[in-house]
Amino acid sequence: MEIVLGPVMEAVADVVVVVDLAGMIVHANSAALLLSGYEQAELAALPVASFLVDEQSGLRTGTRQRVVSDHQVVRRDEAWLVTKHGARIAVSLSAAPVLDEEGTTTGIVLVARDIREQRELLAARDAEIERREAAETELRRVMATIEERLAQTRSQLTLAERRATLGTLAGGVGHELRNIAQIHAFALDRMATELARKGGSDEGRAAMLELERVGEHIATHARRLLHLAQPGPDHTSALDITLVIRDVVAMLQGAGKLHQVNVVFALPDAPVLVTVNKTRIDQIFVNLVLNAAEAIGSSTGTIELAVRLDPERRRVVLEVRDTGPGIAADVLSRIFEPFFTTKGADNGTGLGLPVVREIVESYGGTLTASSTLGAGTTFRFDLPMSSGR
Ligand SMILES: Nc1ncnc2c1ncn2[C@@H]1O[C@H](COP(=O)(O)OP(=O)(O)OP(=O)(O)O)[C@@H](O)[C@H]1O
Ligand SMILES: [Mg+2]
Repeated sequence: MEIVLGPVMEAVADVVVVVDLAGMIVHANSAALLLSGYEQAELAALPVASFLVDEQSGLRTGTRQRVVSDHQVVRRDEAWLVTKHGARIAVSLSAAPVLDEEGTTTGIVLVARDIREQRELLAARDAEIERREAAETELRRVMATIEERLAQTRSQLTLAERRATLGTLAGGVGHELRNIAQIHAFALDRMATELARKGGSDEGRAAMLELERVGEHIATHARRLLHLAQPGPDHTSALDITLVIRDVVAMLQGAGKLHQVNVVFALPDAPVLVTVNKTRIDQIFVNLVLNAAEAIGSSTGTIELAVRLDPERRRVVLEVRDTGPGIAADVLSRIFEPFFTTKGADNGTGLGLPVVREIVESYGGTLTASSTLGAGTTFRFDLPMSSGR
């Protein structure tokens, strides 16, 4: 057997060992000696199970059975050659029977190919695939972030556009009102002259006074609207905000707007000075308190007006709370949009809150709304504290 196989075994670059039926190595080629570090004599005394292992354990009896009895050629991709020093070298293994002239199996020839390089290549390829997958995931994440930012920018842009539209609109209406106020003033002048010439009645003079007041009112509104379109330098002075709040509430009560409403003040005892424009601050409270009263509607409810100091930030924090029905989440996200109203075009312009926000922001403040359905709504904003307090 050795004589026949010897030259063939040497011609092969792979490890070739011949094993007898008892599983002892009877011959090994030079490649086997080179790779394992064993001498021929050492190998010849070794059971094959401690030289070539299959699936972590020694060459399986099942495998041997198939080769010896069934004359099959068996291949194993996952196998190891154990060197003299105990190192394991990855090999692919095939086993074939050695037959004599009668066709009886006299042994097994095992061929083991060193596949370490192949394994390394595979591992490198796996690592590369993993790296690419990680890069792809990162790319997708970055793209999602960019898309999110883009959506944000888009909605900010829409809001900015709407604000610009609001400004233009306010400017247009303000202009028109100013013209009307001027015509009104001219007409009044002419009437006053006529009245003086003809010597009019007391009633006529009273009506004239009333018309003059209306004229002033129109002119004031015209100025406010024009101001909204071009918010230039603002006339500001230090005001006690607690007085402003009480005045606005008294005015709205006088106008019959707070019939069903119980108004509660949570205000500091001492004056709280803020340097702001009186008209604009009035506008904030008129809008917020009216919204609250309209939300309470014909049922009864409470509006609470609260003021507290944040000395560290040098801000005054103000709140208008109501016990109205609250605002659903999908509505809440839209209430600051110009022209958004749930009151119908005849009852609401949807400009109240955007104007309030505009004013608050012009003082470096933030206006936020929080609401619980069935419990009520709170609008909170902050204004600059006057220096010296
Ligand atoms: N306190 C509140 N409770 C419940 N909903 C509110 C409250 N304040 C505002 N809203 C909602 O926000 C919407 C927008 O308010 P905004 O003041 O801008 O316009 P409006 O009140 O509808 O119209 P206008 O101010 O011209 O009367 C309202 O239509 C309403 O749906
Ligand atoms: Mg309103």
